[in-house]
Amino acid sequence: MNNKCDEFFSVGKSVLLGVTGGVAAYKAVELTRLLTQAEYIVQTVMTESARQFIGPISFQSLTGQPVFTELWGGDAANPMPHIHLSRQVGLILIAPASANFIAKLAYGLADDLLSTLCLARDCPLMVAPAMNRQMWENPATQRNIARLQNDGVIVVGPESGVQACGETGMGRMLEAEALFAAVQEALSEGLFQGKHILVTAGPTYEAIDAVRGIINTSSGKMGYAIAQAALDAGARVTLVTGPTCLKPPAVTRLIHVQSAQEMLNMVTATIAETSIDVFISVAAVADYRVASVSQQKIKKSDQKLTLELIQNPDILSHVSSQPDPPFCVGFAAETDNLEQNAITKRRQKKIPVLVANWVQEAMGSNETALTVFDNEGAHAFEKAPKQILAKRLIEHIALQYRQQRNNI
Ligand code: C5P
Repeated sequence: MNNKCDEFFSVGKSVLLGVTGGVAAYKAVELTRLLTQAEYIVQTVMTESARQFIGPISFQSLTGQPVFTELWGGDAANPMPHIHLSRQVGLILIAPASANFIAKLAYGLADDLLSTLCLARDCPLMVAPAMNRQMWENPATQRNIARLQNDGVIVVGPESGVQACGETGMGRMLEAEALFAAVQEALSEGLFQGKHILVTAGPTYEAIDAVRGIINTSSGKMGYAIAQAALDAGARVTLVTGPTCLKPPAVTRLIHVQSAQEMLNMVTATIAETSIDVFISVAAVADYRVASVSQQKIKKSDQKLTLELIQNPDILSHVSSQPDPPFCVGFAAETDNLEQNAITKRRQKKIPVLVANWVQEAMGSNETALTVFDNEGAHAFEKAPKQILAKRLIEHIALQYRQQRNNI
């Protein structure tokens, strides 16, 4: 059906702004200005209470769109505005979201246009609470907020400060600039949207006998953080992990392995079966394994015990030397000569990006500093929690990946 509403919307960069009753409604006007300036299409829907605080004409003049208010027989050209409006946007943002409206959302009530289209939506919903501090702290509101978060609703703010009523406390709606940033983030396409990333993580375990083995002190924290950051960037992620004590992220495919040989097998099988765009080899793979693993527990004796070790395959080099390899990223933990070792490893393994850090700082800890080596030289990443670094690394890798693909 071609009607008035269809002219207004293009889902990627369009927001349905729901305004409910609160003094903070004036901030929604400023937010509308920021959004329209950035070429977002903004469709405003106001509740009756919102109109006690601010007139529809403010939004109408900024957005160039009619403001919808009525569920029945009112202002929308479409006979089913509660369905139609929510189908045409990438995001619904309720700002300000009053305690009453939050309660209605939490219980799925639909007694006006805005609450009805929230219930009928098939796009993400974001709420920016704004209310007196006692109303915010009330257990009923807190229960409702928890319920919304559980339902996948994005709750932004509130923040603490002086309130319209003169009291000071939690409940102020976020400023327009902060809401604008939240909308941008919610509507931004992930850097690796539609890509498949393979990550290896943790140590490998090389058996000596039935109960003993060679392992290293890799915790898996960095690899798991990278896998999570890749997911957050929109990628499908396969995680091949050695033994760790961590809860793995909710990746597309999780594969547990023990030894380097098993890791190699699963990595090559994954690459053969699936089109992998990026391979991030974070695992601390054992360079050697025992030549002959004893099936029985080796008994103690007066004699010296010598274990013969043979070299393990280098998984990363194996992948990067394939005819059409994925974009490969290596990690190197060094105890000395970090820069020289990293540059040499990057060249020997024929990989575009190598991330290096100090063993003393990185292994097992929650924070580390990193240096990334790529075609442009060395980039220092200051010490930070591994989750933060992982996000920055994924952004950096996305940039390098795009540059390489554009040069092909
Ligand atoms: O151990 P090394 O410092 O050479 O590790 C550098 C990179 O090579 C890491 O990304 C690691 O995952 C990878 N590697 C590998 N197979 C090995 C040894 C290391 O894939 N046998």
